[in-house]
Amino acid sequence: MTMADLGTEALRSHVAAQLQRARDRSVALTDAVDDDDLVRQHSKLMSPLVWDLAHIGNQEELWLVRDVGAREPVRHDIDDIYDAFQHPRADRPTLPLLDPAEARAYVREVREKVLDILDTTPLAGRRLVTDGFAFGMIVQHEQQHDETMLATHQLRSGAPVLHAPPPPPGRPLPAPEVLVPAGTFTMGTDVDPWALDNERPSHEVHVDAYFIDTAPVTNGAYAEFIAAGGYDDERWWSADGWAHRVKADLTAPRFWVRDGDRWLRDKFGVVEPIPPDEPVVHVCFHEARAYAAWAGRRLPTEAEWEKAARFDPATGRSRRFPWGDEDPGPEHANLGQRHLSPAPVGAYPAGVSSSGVHQLVGDVWEWLDSDFHGYPGFRAFPYREYSEVFFGGDYKMLRGGSFGTDLAACRATFRNWDHPIRRQIFAGFRCARSAAPAELDQELA
Ligand code: AVJ
Ligand code: FE
Repeated sequence: MTMADLGTEALRSHVAAQLQRARDRSVALTDAVDDDDLVRQHSKLMSPLVWDLAHIGNQEELWLVRDVGAREPVRHDIDDIYDAFQHPRADRPTLPLLDPAEARAYVREVREKVLDILDTTPLAGRRLVTDGFAFGMIVQHEQQHDETMLATHQLRSGAPVLHAPPPPPGRPLPAPEVLVPAGTFTMGTDVDPWALDNERPSHEVHVDAYFIDTAPVTNGAYAEFIAAGGYDDERWWSADGWAHRVKADLTAPRFWVRDGDRWLRDKFGVVEPIPPDEPVVHVCFHEARAYAAWAGRRLPTEAEWEKAARFDPATGRSRRFPWGDEDPGPEHANLGQRHLSPAPVGAYPAGVSSSGVHQLVGDVWEWLDSDFHGYPGFRAFPYREYSEVFFGGDYKMLRGGSFGTDLAACRATFRNWDHPIRRQIFAGFRCARSAAPAELDQELA
């Protein structure tokens, strides 16, 4: 069942439940630490947590209270402080931010109005509200900032404050890679009601035959690249990548700590041996690309990733998720901060795609060898600053979501992007390679 099939009352309660789930998560992430910790900047790369909290409320006020609801401002004086384009993250601690008590009161007041607006606004007619889109956009925005706050928690020093059960165990996969035959598939969507502007419109894309790994690259495999001197061998790095590797003195993924002849990691304040069969996380695009070159492979393109995730050869259709059209359950994917790490390879057999590829959704965002561009026929909606201003060559694409991504902000069409040097996000990668004609004959024989 999709949202488009819901009656208005069912849609309203669906929206209300999603808003509440996002808020519960924001509250948990901010209540986990004391007020000093909320206003402190844990890294120049991140905002103080209390900025994220009030920014969540401000974005909700701008779109749902003022625009959708056409109500008076809750706070007319703070828009500038919480405009991400006005102040880079590094400067945010110096702003006259709402203090933690004020920020909490602000987001509560905005939310009370929004629930009233949700009850009284027709969810049809105007495109912004059709199928509850603006509410869905705000749910996704809050969940995206919750993942950002989770990354801030990972950067924060001090005793652990977040807790979750370990992920399910891994299992052997039948093959390390699969062939995806040449052909066209439908990329993007026109029908997912809460899909954001950059996922639209759907369009046919031809993809040449390629092999793609059935699982993300693991910590164990990545440690072999390090042990083989991969960080000291310029051959594996792009010119930009090598320059960055030297300047930033990269020697291992972020949060890895050398302990004699083994590696440990710092995971939300817990220092522990690195599980070899979990997908590697906290590597930048340049590291991912260098590993792939060392392994005699390459990163997939965005189209290759999406085809492996969505294309069903039996029907010729593209699905919402690797396993089908239904929303992710705990059996399908490691999403929603249910666990505080990626799950070992093979942990989600029910999440396999038609192509035989595992763990495309959840665990780690996957770096891809594609820049961020609009699809043919792209139209910014409802504002240029979500996607369009980032188009061009400065960002690399990420797909699939991580253990810290909520299902509301995750589907096989969902597009994420970041600078190729970023490592604080929950990103890893998998490898691919182009299929040589001789290999195609063999596979088909
Ligand atoms: C799509 C994850 C890159 O966090 O910068 C949040 C999402 N946009 N507020 C980001 C977003 C505006 C965005 N990413
Ligand atoms: Fe934002």
